[in-house]
Amino acid sequence: MSQISVISGTTSEDLAKKIANKIKANLVKSEIRIFPDGESKITLIGKISKKRSIVIQSIFPPVDTNLVQTLSLITKAKENSSQVDVVIPYMGYARQDREFLPGEIVTMKVLGKLFKGAGASKITVVDIHSLIGLKYFSTKTENVTAIPDLVKYFKKLRLKNPLIISPDQGGKERAKEFAVELDSDYIALEKARDRKTGKVKIKTKDLSEVKNRDLILVDDMISTGGSLIKATQFLKKQKCKRIYVACTHALLMNDAEKKIKKAGVTSIISTNTIPGKTSKVDISNTIAKAIM
Ligand code: R5P
Repeated sequence: MSQISVISGTTSEDLAKKIANKIKANLVKSEIRIFPDGESKITLIGKISKKRSIVIQSIFPPVDTNLVQTLSLITKAKENSSQVDVVIPYMGYARQDREFLPGEIVTMKVLGKLFKGAGASKITVVDIHSLIGLKYFSTKTENVTAIPDLVKYFKKLRLKNPLIISPDQGGKERAKEFAVELDSDYIALEKARDRKTGKVKIKTKDLSEVKNRDLILVDDMISTGGSLIKATQFLKKQKCKRIYVACTHALLMNDAEKKIKKAGVTSIISTNTIPGKTSKVDISNTIAKAIM
């Protein structure tokens, strides 16, 4: 048996299989039954290494169920292996990293305690919403970027002189990184979000730079699509050409994809941190390199 076991949760089965192959680890799959009351019953299939195991599980909706499953996998791994590394390709709750309004609970603090308590030695995430959230973790953490993988995909599209756009100032560095990798330039829009309703609006006024250019809107994640729809509507008014979306985590809740396309986006490209129709970019190689 290999010295390393990759323990795959059901949200990241394919990604875990690819990573296990790349790092020559034995793959331990999990079988999950959801009881009528919503509880998860998890059974692991395979032997866990005594030395090191790597739990791989994204925490996307149903977020709380997948969080408990992740903690359970870590707990079981720790009963067998002395070192338990955890890869959370998409980290749910990452946006709850500070007290925006008085009385709000910073859930990332809670997660930090839970992962430590379950026995995680190190936690690796991909393009986390903000590094602030990881400051509450007392275990070792690493944030891996999927931007070079996304850019590789866009290079193949051979767009002529595309401009990279971040829908908000918070994503400016991300847009810059994408632009540098693609050898293009970038702009970050001004976005405001109502902290009570969650509604967004674009505050940027005129933007003549986008006229007649193909654009790539770069974001860490799409949830409802609200941010991208508002940005797209604004950019279309500025008479740009086509708009592509590049993002790491495409949650695409409800009919977000349809609404984004309707607003005028030509194509959405995401990674397999969240498997789905738009997840055309595989990041298994990048994760494998980071954890070895
Ligand atoms: C916000 O700052 C994030 O980077 C995303 O732009 C946002 O969370 C996406 O959410 P939604 O799709 O609901 O606008």
